[in-house]
This record gives sequence, C-alpha cells and structure tokens, in this order.
Amino acid sequence: MSVTDQSIFSPERYVGTRAPIEEAVPLPPEVYFSEEWYDREVETIFRREWLVATREEEIPNPGDYVRLDIVDEPLVILRDDDGVIRALSASCRHRGSELMTGSGNCRRITCPYHAWSYALDGELIATPAMHEADDFDKADHPLPSVRAETWGGFVFINFDPEAKPLLESLGGLVERMAPYRMEEMKVTRKWENRFNANWKIWVENSREGYHVQTVHRESLDTFYPGARRSEFYPDGEPMVYAINSTANENGLYVPREPTLPFVAGLSDFDNENTHFIIHYPHLLLNSPPDRFSFHQYFPEGPEWTRITTWCCFPQSTIDLPEFEAEAEEKYYTSMDLFLAEDKGICEVVHRGIRGRLAGLSRYSPAEEQTVHEFSNYVLDHVLGPEEPTPDGRAPDAYC
Ligand code: FES
Ligand SMILES: [Fe+2]
Repeated sequence: MSVTDQSIFSPERYVGTRAPIEEAVPLPPEVYFSEEWYDREVETIFRREWLVATREEEIPNPGDYVRLDIVDEPLVILRDDDGVIRALSASCRHRGSELMTGSGNCRRITCPYHAWSYALDGELIATPAMHEADDFDKADHPLPSVRAETWGGFVFINFDPEAKPLLESLGGLVERMAPYRMEEMKVTRKWENRFNANWKIWVENSREGYHVQTVHRESLDTFYPGARRSEFYPDGEPMVYAINSTANENGLYVPREPTLPFVAGLSDFDNENTHFIIHYPHLLLNSPPDRFSFHQYFPEGPEWTRITTWCCFPQSTIDLPEFEAEAEEKYYTSMDLFLAEDKGICEVVHRGIRGRLAGLSRYSPAEEQTVHEFSNYVLDHVLGPEEPTPDGRAPDAYC
C-alpha cells in the first residue's frame, strides 16, 4: 500500500514523527486541515483533558459568571450561592437558546427566549405556561454540568466524568510552581486574538525559541536581551518543560534592568530562569521570577484559533506607585508586539502548508524538542499510544 492509499489515521503514516528527534519528521500538513482529524482531536484531547476556563478572581462572588465556548460547547462558568465554582451548559433545556453572553453577575439564570429560569446550581426553577404539559417535572431538566476544579488560581474544566482529578493530572507541576504562589497573583492585562491558523501551529510556535531570532528580532533585543538560550527538560506526562536561562543576561520576559520586584521567597534557580511549561493541551504557562503569563486557546475548527493571553503580577507589585507606568512600558508593550508577531507567523505557516506540494522535512534537535514532544502527544491521543516494545517498556522514542 502506498502512503497515499493510507487512511489519515493509519499509524504507518506517522512512523517518521514517532522516531527519535535526531531522525524525526514533522507531522504531515493534512493533520492541520482535515475536518476528520480535527473532530478526532476534539474527542480524544479536548473532551478528555483538563482545560483552563478562567481565573478564580474573575468570578469572586456568588452569581459572578463568564460565558465561554469551548470546542463548540456553550458553557457558563459561575460561582453559585454557596461559593462553589460550577461549569454549566449555557443551552436552555426548553428549546436550546443560548442562556447568557459575556460576563457579569446574576441571581438566577433566565432564558432570554421564553423565560425559563435556573438556579445557580443548574436546577430548573421556573417554567412559565408549562402546567398543561403531561409528565413534566422541572426536577428532570437541570442544566447539564461538566467538572470544574481549581489550582493556583486557575479554574479548569473537564468534559470527561472519568478523568483523573485535576491535581493528580498536574503531577509534579503542583510542587514545582508552589513557590510562585500563583493563586495570590492578580490579572493585570488580557489580550484577545483570533488567528487564521490551526491550534497546533500556535502551540508549536509558543513553545520553541527557534523563531525568536527571526520573528522577534526587532522586539526581543529591545526588551529582553539574552533570551535566546534555553534548555529543554521533557518531564513526561502531563507536561513538557523548557527553561530559559538568565545566567548571562536577563532571560525572556525579564527586562534587562528589572525595576519591579521578583516574587519573594523564590530559589536562586527560579530567580535566574523563566519556566516555559505546557500542561497538555491547554495551559501554556510562562513563569519568570516577577510575574506569570499564560495563553488559553480555543480551537474553532481546523483553521481558526481564538487565544486569550493573561498577565498576572503579585498584589504587592501592583500596589507600587510606579507599577502602571512600568508595566505599560516594559511588559505590555512588548506583549503587544510579540502577540502581533506570533499571530502573523502562525498565519504564514498555516498558509504555507496548505498546498499539495507542502512537504516537511526535519526538526532541529537543538531547538525543537518541545515541538516533537507535542506532535507525539497529539499522535498518542488521536491514534492511541504506541505499541509497547518487546521488553514491555513503552517506547521512549522522543525523550
Ligand atoms: S428556549 Fe429557553 S425558555 Fe424557551
Ligand atoms: Fe513567538
């Protein structure tokens, strides 16, 4: 059978990507455009894994809510009357109207169509003009919910009732990030973007530094000199991990002469490094010693991706009189530039791999370990894990 005869889900087609990085080839272009492949990604990745929904501080009080569409599922993330964070369907149980938009505070959820109402725990509590409906009991029609759990101030959701608990899924990340006390940091700026590019292109781009010296050459050298060095630490499931050393100068995301304080109590190592973490598939966390930022992305079909980027600082830093001016000049302006540059290059890549002549060759072993690891994560989920080796061990082709 020739390669062109093989199904897009045929494992033989991905042997090159499964190989050790010194030999490996990137994922073929069609997995960035195929609706069939995208649908399988939604089922095996986005409907199975923990996904970042918001920050706890965005819904601090009972009745606070945010509406999100995650892989075409309309959800409302809210805090109920008991302070419990819930992720409810935002589709009315009557005839399905979208229940809410945007964000805000509500005492109950009332459908804009025929005014059915729901309590903040999803219970259906009012149904005008339904008294003649036979065998209709409001108790049978609550809003469906999905799991919502928190860590580090993040609210995660999971569509899979069988998924392991969030903290278990985070593994070593919990201990590793504890000194940063992210749960005490506050959101100071958010950026919303929508890219005409497959979600994988965004993830791949955001985790490698190979493109920095080209795509970001004007911005990076101005704001964050010395950011080109990085070391890669594959950490197995559930995350990959890259360190950008600040040993010579300050590393990525820390200005040359930082004037805002570093987080109190960090180790010497943490004070000299920026951590780049993927908790698959959805938390892309950048953690320098003075703050953290993260990207939250929402695939909208194979060719579009909506991305929210958040920047968070310690409250003690935010309280400094110089904070606003410093943050604007040294942090937000650079993020404006980076995001525009990354959006541009992701769309360029998406356009470049569209054609039938597109044929990808090899990864850089020195620079693209994270991309290779991520590609294999996608294959593990869409195709299922590789067969164990004859000695019973899982293959470690990409470690
Ligand atoms: S669709 Fe919501 S009340 Fe009719
Ligand atoms: Fe970039």
